[in-house]
Amino acid sequence: MKAKVAVLISGAGTNMAALLFASKLPSCPYEIVLVASNNSDAEGLKIAAAEGIPTFAMSHIGLDRAAHDAVMHEAIVEAGATYVALAGYMRILSTGFVAKWDGRMLNIHPSLLPKYKGLHTHQRAIDANDTVAGTSVHLVTAELDDGPVLGQIEVAILPSDTADTLADRVKMAEYQLYPKTLADFVARDSNPDI
Ligand code: GRF
Repeated sequence: MKAKVAVLISGAGTNMAALLFASKLPSCPYEIVLVASNNSDAEGLKIAAAEGIPTFAMSHIGLDRAAHDAVMHEAIVEAGATYVALAGYMRILSTGFVAKWDGRMLNIHPSLLPKYKGLHTHQRAIDANDTVAGTSVHLVTAELDDGPVLGQIEVAILPSDTADTLADRVKMAEYQLYPKTLADFVARDSNPDI
């Protein structure tokens, strides 16, 4: 049986799409059972719906953090998911929500963690004259962008790069990294001998 994954997004959802298309390969050990968002206008929701994936949206506006997280949690459980993949979900999570998904929630972050947690990672890498940027998939813990790193891909920085051109190339690396890392993670989880 394939592992059931809920993907949480806030925007374009291109990483969600990469996870989804990878899941269509017969050998993929996970399936996406829900795409949920705090933003009902998120472009990724339309992509998921067109692909026949159940979607859920609940704005965080007017709800406190714990209450909003509880609504999201309920939708995820309702969908039958046992893993959560954050993919551009622009919300700081409550400790209660993080605890409920301890060891079963992954995130993708556009830097070589532990470098450049938080926002504006590409500009910060360029400003620091780094020659290499990249992307990381990590387990989510209470501290922002801080959990154990499960996989990384390095991306060379070109002298001509702007934050935007670098971001575009890092995204191509993300589309490789996230599906593979998630697949390996759920496979290892269901068979500790791997
Ligand atoms: C990605 O760069 C990811 O690393 C970060 O947010 C971005 C999401 O982009 N967490 P998209 O919505 O998947 O296109």
